[in-house]
Amino acid sequence: MTMAQVLDKGSIVAVVGSGAMGTGIAQVAAAAGYKVVLFDARPEAVKASITGICNMYGKLAEKGKMTDEEVQAASDRLSGASNLSELKDAAIVIEAIVESLDVKRTLFADLEGIVQDGCILATNTSSISVTAIAARLRLPQRLVGMHFFNPVPLMSLVEVISGLATSREVADTVYATAAAWGKNPVHAKSTPGFIVNRVARPFYAEALRLLNEQAADAATLDAVMREAGGFRMGPFELMDLIGHDVNFSVTQSVFHAYFNDPRFTPSVLQQEMVNAGYFGRKSGRGFFDYTPGAAKEEP
Ligand code: NAI
Repeated sequence: MTMAQVLDKGSIVAVVGSGAMGTGIAQVAAAAGYKVVLFDARPEAVKASITGICNMYGKLAEKGKMTDEEVQAASDRLSGASNLSELKDAAIVIEAIVESLDVKRTLFADLEGIVQDGCILATNTSSISVTAIAARLRLPQRLVGMHFFNPVPLMSLVEVISGLATSREVADTVYATAAAWGKNPVHAKSTPGFIVNRVARPFYAEALRLLNEQAADAATLDAVMREAGGFRMGPFELMDLIGHDVNFSVTQSVFHAYFNDPRFTPSVLQQEMVNAGYFGRKSGRGFFDYTPGAAKEEP
């Protein structure tokens, strides 16, 4: 791999979807020196995202991690698009929209009618087959998975996922570019859950089974995994951080993709948490209570 494969600094990086992940990706790409154009189906999300990123740069400057000049330059490199057609000169489009095969396919089909043939199309999907997302494209070889982890500015791993049609050159360019952005990329093939979300499934599933069997409460199981297991976070606090809606849907997706292999059976307990709207930190309640002033307790 040569540095020549890194996307040129003058290139435009387009990010579609300005939610939690798109915002983090845009923050990292602009700080690395790229012009970043954000688009979202909800224009207010783009505005909020750019404001949020500029605030984050400000905080980094307060901590001495960016100079005032760097903050200014990185903020100036960010802009919003009100129409998808404004992404026509992008060298790469990184998609971070809703986790739905149909919606992602529609977006990429629309993008193919807009961008240049040399533009790389990358998806941040956490659980959908990259092969399937690319299947109906005119140039499926240019679509690749670029799977960041949450929160993007802090998590260094990026899984670069090749579907059956992805060209090696495209995967190598995305790998080298992620490395130039200060990330620690890894190449992987498109398999259900890719690497991290696959190996993590039993961590959550066995913890949920233990809780179901009343082996110990969630706080105790978390403490054991942290103190004896050496994990940074226990399974329940981690599921609360990721969000039960997201975590449950990844488990369902891996379960179905492996033809309902019982090893990946989703948890009824977690399904009930999702049904209740107990998504974790983001909804104020999950296995633990996050309402202001609440002591850490189970629901
Ligand atoms: P989010 O819900 O915070 O943001 C999604 C954004 O996409 C929203 O602002 C929404 O308005 C916009 N959107 C939805 N459909 C759109 C469309 N057709 N065109 C343009 N914009 C559209 O979601 P989040 O958490 O940022 O996830 C985005 C993607 O990243 C998903 O595929 C998810 O599976 C993946 N991912 C999420 C991680 C996480 O921990 N949240 C980690 C790694 C990947």
